[in-house]
Amino acid sequence: HGTSQINAAGHLEIGGCDVTDLKAKYGTPLYVVDEDLVRQRCQQYVAAFRASGLKFQVAYASKAFCVMAMCRIADQEGMSLDVVSDGELYTALQAGFPAKRIHFHGNNKTLEEIEMAIDAEIGCFVVDNLIELHLLNAVAAEKNVSVQILLRVTPGVEAHTHEYISTGQTDSKFGFDIGNGSAFEAVKLASEQSNLDLLGVHSHIGSQIFEVEGFEMAVQRVAEFAQRVHQELGVQFKVVNLGGGFGIRYVEGDTPLEVSQYVKAITDAVKTHFSSWSSEVPEIWVEPGRSIVGDAGTTLYTVGTSKDIPGVRKYVAVDGGMTDNPRPALYESKYEAVLANRANEPIQETVSIAGKCCESGDMLIWDLDLPKVNSGDLLAVACTGAYNYSMASNYNRIRRPAVVFVNQGESDLVVRRETLQDIIGNDMVPERISKQAV
Ligand code: LLP
Repeated sequence: HGTSQINAAGHLEIGGCDVTDLKAKYGTPLYVVDEDLVRQRCQQYVAAFRASGLKFQVAYASKAFCVMAMCRIADQEGMSLDVVSDGELYTALQAGFPAKRIHFHGNNKTLEEIEMAIDAEIGCFVVDNLIELHLLNAVAAEKNVSVQILLRVTPGVEAHTHEYISTGQTDSKFGFDIGNGSAFEAVKLASEQSNLDLLGVHSHIGSQIFEVEGFEMAVQRVAEFAQRVHQELGVQFKVVNLGGGFGIRYVEGDTPLEVSQYVKAITDAVKTHFSSWSSEVPEIWVEPGRSIVGDAGTTLYTVGTSKDIPGVRKYVAVDGGMTDNPRPALYESKYEAVLANRANEPIQETVSIAGKCCESGDMLIWDLDLPKVNSGDLLAVACTGAYNYSMASNYNRIRRPAVVFVNQGESDLVVRRETLQDIIGNDMVPERISKQAV
């Protein structure tokens, strides 16, 4: 997909770059991001919303992959940006992302984060709970400013997805429940706060969703709620944010829809469920993360050792693993991979790809069909653009890989590989300990 292909040498090529050259230049493990594909995905969202005729913002959910170069691209493609921590906010601001198009999420924003975001004059806070609501109003009052907010609501929709990553159901740590009246109370309270400007509501029903029904149901619940709020409190929502969660294809059998299909279902549902009672259809915001960067990413690994257990299984170990891609261990996520330096060769064996961490659960792919694998071969795991680098760790004190963007035969580092010095960079040995005799 994207700009990947197999070249005359039988090597995988991404964005016009031969991956064996990328390995020679940058080493492995290496995250390779197809810049053109990322831009195309952004453009697909914008085009689909334009076609709807509704007012909109598409906020890239930076948690999927937040580095300064990515923030620049999101800005250039007309995206807004969803951040959930001071770290993501700082990255965006340092990259020159326009603060007005930054939305701040999270169920436990600290006082420091709230002050930093107000001082930066970000566009909107997505308020999760009453403690935050009052804190935000107090800080805004102290600074003598008015802050635009959305209230995060849980519409009671359960998306068809992995249980750990569904957030729209009632039993969730996030937001105000529409079903039990707490969302209604929150709207009432929010509209009474002197330094908060309530724009509307936000709902996010889960991640890696393949059907439109969940989104349509969420729109319907939110619209019914908006109508009630309008009638009983005289509050009109100017903005409805429907979150992210649009699925991508990791492996055969995954059946995501096109970006345009998700957007059309949402905008059609908005037209249906708002026009029936209101002359003003709200501005629609969405927050795709995975579907912007997921399939644009590929991780390159060098094959090292292997262990063949006759009649049982052959393990093939690579020079990375759960530290650069924790998703298989966390969610039992499935990935596909190819032998990138001999991509044309026929399949000869079934192997299981192990990471190098001291943990049996550090397996990237079970039962992968490959040509005969040798030590030194280059393995390319597909669809690692989202929630890989952003969830990477230094477990076992393994250094985080570099990230390169490739486009039309050019490659550029956007994150340098961590050094051993980086590994001990925050360590301190107090004198009390260093002075003690052995
Ligand atoms: N908006 C909100 C409020 C969210 O919580 C999320 C994701 C998104 C937008 C973006 O969702 P996306 O379009 O990327 O599905 N680490 C997990 C995914 C966690 C998603 C958390 N929230 C994974 O690796 O699958």
